[in-house]
Amino acid sequence: MSAEMTPKGLLDIESLTRSDIEVILERSKEFQPPRGETFRRLDILRGRTVVNLFFESSTRTRTSFEIAAKRLGADVLSITAAGSSISKGESLVDTLNTLGAMRPDAIVMRHSASGAPHFLSRYLPVPIVNAGDGTHEHPTQALLDALTITDRRGRLEGLRVAIIGDIAHSRVARSNVFLLSKFGVQIVLCGPASLLPREMAKIAPGVELTGDMVEAIRDADVIMMLRVQLERQYEAAFPANEYFQFFGLRLEHMEQAKPDVMVMHPGPINRGREISSEVADSQRSAILNQVENGIAVRMAVLERVLAR
Ligand code: NCD
Repeated sequence: MSAEMTPKGLLDIESLTRSDIEVILERSKEFQPPRGETFRRLDILRGRTVVNLFFESSTRTRTSFEIAAKRLGADVLSITAAGSSISKGESLVDTLNTLGAMRPDAIVMRHSASGAPHFLSRYLPVPIVNAGDGTHEHPTQALLDALTITDRRGRLEGLRVAIIGDIAHSRVARSNVFLLSKFGVQIVLCGPASLLPREMAKIAPGVELTGDMVEAIRDADVIMMLRVQLERQYEAAFPANEYFQFFGLRLEHMEQAKPDVMVMHPGPINRGREISSEVADSQRSAILNQVENGIAVRMAVLERVLAR
């Protein structure tokens, strides 16, 4: 199948326009449940089947896609690498062809290889939603982060966002940089030199780099902490005990930040490694709002991808 005939999925943020993103965020707001109420199950995707294919571990992303599909009335099944033929040595293309032959309406996939969903979308006549590919992108995470910021701040334009931690291995950072830069956000990336590639300053306009945590947070409206991706560090890039001392977000940093700064983290958080419990559990933390918004955003994405 040629690229032009490939059904539209959601592979990355980089190739979306600002207005594509605005449409998804507006629709996501309609899927947010009113305060104190639970979600209603809708009929929008009744009779459609979504396959969740996770080659890498995940709790919130996989559950969130599953709940989102169910709330839209779709049938959803989740396959994880450990319990499937992938662990018997089947190749990625064969696994996907097998699933494709069962004619699901969409495949949501996470894979440790950057570009895996892009590669497969060229061969499979099924829309693919990227739920994280290697160190490349995690588009729905950036969308839910944008929704969470607009919920608290009313806008993205003109804000200053500090993204702190293991920038080198973070698909969350890359997707956020692509998204936020389309909205005129000032972005400062901060981390130890070994985890802060200089090329990151060039992937989008308006990106600054610093190795100084206090400088990064001083004028920030949003502090986005990242998990140290130990599974992707093939050599010890930074000793773990020193990491928290230099790049862990603690209460004392909050005194140097703006009083209304919001703190985010995509999860899973490692308490005492990149963020202290006092900060993670404070009023300024939007970590659980991010998780909650993940469902509304993924509903909007699945609806868009599966719309007839
Ligand atoms: C992120 C991921 O897997 O990319 N987690 C998530 O989806 N919420 C970030 C991480 O694992 O560090």
